[in-house]
Amino acid sequence: SQPKRRRPGQDWKAWPQYDAAELGLRGYWYPVTWSSKVTGTPQRQTLCGEKLVLIRDGGEVYALADRCPHRGVPLSLGRQEFPGTLTCAYHGWTFDLESGKLCAVLTDGPKSPICGKVVQKTHPVEERHGIVWVYLGDGEEPHPLDEQLPEEWRDGSFVLGGSMQDRRGDWRYACENGFDEGHAKYLHRTSLWRLFRTMPTWNITSIERQGRWIHRVQKEVHFRDEHSGLGVWTNYRWWKKKPPERVFNIGNVGDLGKPVHPVIGRQEFPGYTSISVPGVLRVVYPDFIHYEWWVPTEPGHHRYVGIMIQYREGLSTLPFYLKYFGGIRWFFHGQFSQQDEWMVGETDAPPERLYRPDASLTAWRKLVEETTTTHEAARAAKARRQDYDV
Ligand code: FES
Repeated sequence: SQPKRRRPGQDWKAWPQYDAAELGLRGYWYPVTWSSKVTGTPQRQTLCGEKLVLIRDGGEVYALADRCPHRGVPLSLGRQEFPGTLTCAYHGWTFDLESGKLCAVLTDGPKSPICGKVVQKTHPVEERHGIVWVYLGDGEEPHPLDEQLPEEWRDGSFVLGGSMQDRRGDWRYACENGFDEGHAKYLHRTSLWRLFRTMPTWNITSIERQGRWIHRVQKEVHFRDEHSGLGVWTNYRWWKKKPPERVFNIGNVGDLGKPVHPVIGRQEFPGYTSISVPGVLRVVYPDFIHYEWWVPTEPGHHRYVGIMIQYREGLSTLPFYLKYFGGIRWFFHGQFSQQDEWMVGETDAPPERLYRPDASLTAWRKLVEETTTTHEAARAAKARRQDYDV
């Protein structure tokens, strides 16, 4: 289906950087695919509007711009003729994977004078936790990937399950949906995941900041409300023993009646749901943590990367896999998440008219605005230093 293009010039003026970021935020690492999917056969990916070719060589993954500078054919149609290189399918221009330099032209003899004079753009790549991460910047030195991953990933070893899906909808709508206060209570009222989890009909939220994450903290919750002249509406399921007084505040997870895993307990999560730039959601439960990355691909499309981790090692990882592949993958990363996909694909804002629970959306936009501005300023300062060095 055709991506929906936003009507220009309407009302995200308070967030100019965010408004301009239709193709994502540059200068960040993004999860692109599973490590197991990248082999010696070139593979095409799109990230922040740029077409990339990924290939594995000598155990390492490389990412180059997927457009041959000769006549514009995708390099992903090519093949590997020599180790450490990739050859274009059309006239045999051959590029060094590490540097991007044109190192041979198979149709112009070994002394082709153009060799060494053309350099294909390359992108930094790292592999971590079975995922390929690509840094999308503008030629600057990338910050270490580990600085950008959730802090709790450095604490102990964990087991991970996840799902990556290409989806319709602007990446910003997907981020906003993930952190959106009201949708969990109404859109997801019919999700099968809710057979196991209780969500209130309405609540009062405050947003707390911790480093680069902002957290949604539920201060007051309602399960059953009288709407004057209309009647009662409830989101409460009859098979639950009683509605908890407060739900899902990680400082208060004991309310869910489950022990908190020590690694999770050691973190200082102020709230249950949080989000950080460049578009990562974290939802903390007593014994597992769920994340969503919304990776910009092309206008009106993004890649959903849903990850669930549990701090387990050795044989004790088995129950996690059974639970993940037997249920969570289908209920949570499946049907529940597809309800999000449906709404994100249908969203067409701005223009928009916000209401009280949308405080979570505007806080997220403000975070992007501040972070991006700081990020831009840091990059500009670095560029100035480089000029000076030269
Ligand atoms: Fe790639 Fe000619 S288009 S070698």
